[in-house]
Amino acid sequence: MTERTLILVKPDGVKRALSGEVLRRIEAKGYTLVAVELRKATPELLAEHYAEHVGKPFYDPLVAFMLTGPVLAVVAEGERVIEGFRSLAGATDPTVAAPGTIRGDLARAWDLPVIHNIVHGSDSPESAEREIGIWFPGL
Ligand code: RTP
Ligand code: MG
Repeated sequence: MTERTLILVKPDGVKRALSGEVLRRIEAKGYTLVAVELRKATPELLAEHYAEHVGKPFYDPLVAFMLTGPVLAVVAEGERVIEGFRSLAGATDPTVAAPGTIRGDLARAWDLPVIHNIVHGSDSPESAEREIGIWFPGL
């Protein structure tokens, strides 16, 4: 079934000029770009986006990290794109993410309170619908 997912190139990826590389991989895989916009997040928007992580030890540093610069917000479409982009992104921890994945190829561990791993991708159809509504209410 064709579906949509919400992808973010996080501030580390934008600063390192990897936005194009992430878009290239999404397109090369065969998914369609539906929306692409460089945005500055706000604490309110991130509180909604990361609602599931409120109260976790990495929540405050995660929000602080996401406010360090612009993010590239993307909606991509395709057959099983939610699962497919998670597969392209690789494991959350870039040290163990498989080579060939975005995180495995382009990120590594730093001595930081939050993992800098270049991208976010929705993890289920419910999350995708919720997150697309937060970032692109007009879609
Ligand atoms: P994402 O939501 O960004 O696609 O990543 P994910 O599902 O693989 O990871 P999730 O558990 O949802 O965590 C969201 C983001 O929080 C940061 N994090 N830091 N220091 C830590 O232990 C830690 N754990 C998570 C990462 O940036 C992660 O992608
Ligand atoms: Mg997640």
